[in-house]
Amino acid sequence: MTSPDIDTQTLAGTERATEADATGTATGTAAGTEWWRTAVIYQIYPRSFADADGDGMGDLPGITHRLPALRELGVDAIWLSPFYTSPQRDAGYDVADYCDVDPRFGTLADFDLMQGAAHDLGIRVIVDLVPNHSSSDHRWFQAALAAAPGSEERGRYVFRDGRGDNGELPPNNWESVFGGLAWTRVTEADGAPGQWYLHLFDSTQPDFDWSNPWVREQFRDVLRFWLDRGVDGFRVDVAHGMVKADGLPDYTPAVEGGSMGGGSATLEPGISVEPPEPAPYWAQEGVHDIYRDWRLLLDEYPGDRILAAEAWVDPLARVAKWVRPDEMHQAFNFAYLETPWSAPALRSVIDDSLDAFSSVGAPSTWVLSNHDVVRHASRLALTAENLQGHGIGPKTVGLPDPVVGLRRARAASMLMLSLPGSSYIYQGEELGLPEVVDLPDSARQDPTWFRTNGERYGRDGCRVPIPWEAAAPSYGFGPTTASWLPQPAEWAALARDVQEGADGSTLELYKLALRLRREHALGLGAVDWLDGFGDEVVALRNGDVTVIANAGAAPVDLPDGDVLLASGPLDGRSLPGDTTVWLRA
Ligand code: NOJ
Repeated sequence: MTSPDIDTQTLAGTERATEADATGTATGTAAGTEWWRTAVIYQIYPRSFADADGDGMGDLPGITHRLPALRELGVDAIWLSPFYTSPQRDAGYDVADYCDVDPRFGTLADFDLMQGAAHDLGIRVIVDLVPNHSSSDHRWFQAALAAAPGSEERGRYVFRDGRGDNGELPPNNWESVFGGLAWTRVTEADGAPGQWYLHLFDSTQPDFDWSNPWVREQFRDVLRFWLDRGVDGFRVDVAHGMVKADGLPDYTPAVEGGSMGGGSATLEPGISVEPPEPAPYWAQEGVHDIYRDWRLLLDEYPGDRILAAEAWVDPLARVAKWVRPDEMHQAFNFAYLETPWSAPALRSVIDDSLDAFSSVGAPSTWVLSNHDVVRHASRLALTAENLQGHGIGPKTVGLPDPVVGLRRARAASMLMLSLPGSSYIYQGEELGLPEVVDLPDSARQDPTWFRTNGERYGRDGCRVPIPWEAAAPSYGFGPTTASWLPQPAEWAALARDVQEGADGSTLELYKLALRLRREHALGLGAVDWLDGFGDEVVALRNGDVTVIANAGAAPVDLPDGDVLLASGPLDGRSLPGDTTVWLRA
């Protein structure tokens, strides 16, 4: 620790976690220094993180066992993708009981143990909330199917009569994000073809009708259930989709794709024309009432509990609406994730992000990978266009060179972790894991793959269970060789135990970055652009750290200053291409 500010920040984080748990009282964090404004949040994808019982599927006891490794990495919080009761048709984003743990992942007692262990280590716990849709197995949907058209039970979801003489056509032309129609027709109790229900995702994920007060009340109860158990917040799934435009009008997107449905066409960074109207199922004004209501509910609880929006919306100025002072705390910065490895594009998106989020008093977030996109150690070296959500596989055009991909990923991550605000890390990126490209078709599980008849590979390639120990079965993912997706043989060399303490390993690079980020209070800082390094370079000062990211191929001369961190080997005082350096300013 090198400055009093940093000590305050570090201690405040740990004390708050402990105090709130022990006493249940608010701790009075000074405005503007709340933990979530600067936190590094690590995404755990429970299926693929650590498997304690050896069935090939990760679980909560597995997470508990591996938490000390995350403490060593230096993260402030974990966000867990869903572990709730679910038939797993969309890897848990199809929830059949919002207030219980799926037996594949453990029990509620296992959750409590995991959360207690995390809090003891000073790590906060954020859980996923999936309010746009439930599983079709949920008892509410089963009751809706059994009930008649027009019933209270059907009114909880979006059931409509079909078009055409006999209702044989879907109510409108909307398409599922995963491909195919967004409507499925049901068979009524008398055996006749009946109404249609809306599902923006898989047919096993019926959308709720959020104009129904009953739905709103149920989700207040779900929030309270997890807040009462002590969670530090929620990542809100499809936070841009819960409210649909009146009348459900037809809509044809201008641009295909957008992983979780960006909806409107993506604007070039920096172009300030009026953004196109969002699709009638994304970014409707009505969603904001829901978040204002939830914010009031969270504010009843002690400690800083947060709401983080998964809102695939553009441009950033529109995303900022999700984090107005009386709504959510954070929104994922997907514009940043979607930015190519290009210095002008990066400078532009960083400026736009800081402007947009600060205009509403929120921190910017930064993210490069998650369970829905091609891992950035592969994505940043793709040589042909590849729409988010389509994934990559053996037949993809423009497959990446893995060496270039890893070099760029390390450089991109070191730029991201130098920025003020809060950063998200997706499990395995600290090991430099690439996307798995050659999964056998028979192993694939993403509904996208099935709904497009294999035209889109989907997201399985970024979800492969991660390697912990090179010499162990399933590389230490679990005690057996079982793994729900096959792990590539090359991953032995990337296992955590191989990288632990190894000079120049990606793991050690991330650990150093997180330590320096904390010591230099980079999360609370600001970006001052530095000129004179050429068009292919992103150069900035944040507090007492100078950051230079060379996104081009030509080497760049470094200015004076001790090297604090380098994402790859330096050539004396020359910074090679695809490399980022942090210098003491
Ligand atoms: C976004 C989640 O991140 C993704 O994995 C899921 O398929 C969709 N929402 C639907 O819940």
